[in-house]
Amino acid sequence: MTLPDRAALSRREYLKGLVAAGGTAALAACLEEESNVEIPAGDPEGLPDRQHAWNDVLSGNDNENIVPARHHVLLSLSLARDPTDEDRERFERALETLERAYEWSHEGLLFTVGYTPTYFDRVGWNGLAEPEALTDFEEPAFEGGDLLIHFTSDHSQAVVAAEEALLGELEEVNGIEVEADIAELVDSRERLTGFVGAGLPADADVSGVPDSEPIPEEAPFFMGFRSGFDRSQATEDRVTIEEGPFAGGTTQHVESLAIDLHQWYEQDSQFQRVAKTFSHEHAEEDMVGEYGEKLEDSNALTDERIAETTEDARRHGVVGHAQKTARAREDGEPLLLRRDFNTTDDDRPGLHFLSLQRDIGEFVRVRDAMTGDDVAADTGIGSITNNGILQYITVRRRGNYLVPPRELRAFPDPNNE
Ligand code: HEM
Repeated sequence: MTLPDRAALSRREYLKGLVAAGGTAALAACLEEESNVEIPAGDPEGLPDRQHAWNDVLSGNDNENIVPARHHVLLSLSLARDPTDEDRERFERALETLERAYEWSHEGLLFTVGYTPTYFDRVGWNGLAEPEALTDFEEPAFEGGDLLIHFTSDHSQAVVAAEEALLGELEEVNGIEVEADIAELVDSRERLTGFVGAGLPADADVSGVPDSEPIPEEAPFFMGFRSGFDRSQATEDRVTIEEGPFAGGTTQHVESLAIDLHQWYEQDSQFQRVAKTFSHEHAEEDMVGEYGEKLEDSNALTDERIAETTEDARRHGVVGHAQKTARAREDGEPLLLRRDFNTTDDDRPGLHFLSLQRDIGEFVRVRDAMTGDDVAADTGIGSITNNGILQYITVRRRGNYLVPPRELRAFPDPNNE
């Protein structure tokens, strides 16, 4: 992939473009651009048992909401052969190298390693469902690899270097010798990349991002609103598997979406965008502001508003995405811990919707609530029109993963623990 043109871009756009490009040339360019950045080293000893325990080492904002790190890479790897015990040990050493090189935090590097049903076939375990189409109007590609590593950091160099170190392209990473890599084991790789942060969507320079009605400068996501409020996120405890061979781990779903931003920004008013994202009441009462700045630690959906979803569809001809999806809460608690991020992969705007939950079945239940066939059935709204944000998104890819606890993260074999 060609590197982005430094002269044509702001610094943050350039760094984002280098993550999308990946590879050793992109890494060299990141290091040059971030030559003033010193990333603290880390220590694999004493890290949490859960790979997905990130909240304590991500930063928070004034309202207790967790702020995602800026850069993201999802590295999907297909293995050349079934891994042996020696490969397990080598992979573990390679991962520990990364933990030694970078502090376990958003300023250093965070990652999870998740495995697919294809991988589990190799070791004769069938506890994880294959991904499937979840709506009538999608024909997604499905994850075809064995494992998916989610790397994230505020520094582009960390996510790009981690990938290259793991795949045997570096002798040193952040000044630490690379002791082991898994290049020989990997048959092919696919990369999904992205970013989150105020200003980054507005700056994005790809076709499909409208100029005429700009995305709010402060918006961290392409569709213009803050997301991931504390009270609409599941806790890390809630998404942790409680029993079985992977107790202490979690499951992960990645739904990659293309977004039609032209339609969203050019056909709809701010009132409609708020009503379709949150609820009609949010729009009428002006509860959201330009990009969500009026909301604090919650999306302000009351139990009553959630329960009135179908009634709102009848009365106002529109339902909100969050309102409709919140119907899947259990005892008032959200089931998903969302760690999604924007993307311009394939030179178009989109979102890699990544969520953690105790069981893939819980993701499916929440996704069904978002699809809202029942809401559309007899209320006069369409199956996608005025039905939250469905009209603007196209599902392009899905994958299901099991993210084991840290001690089982290197090629787990549940029949042999
Ligand atoms: C382009 C795609 C998407 C955008 C722009 C988007 C945006 C948002 C926003 C702005 C909120 C309200 C803020 C908050 O509560 O954090 C929200 C809530 C939520 N979204 Fe999405 N979302 C997208 C896709 C999805 C998908 C694919 C799912 C999968 C089921 C999903 C599940 C949820 C859930 C569970 C909530 C919280 C509901 C509750 O309060 O209980 N979203 N989303």
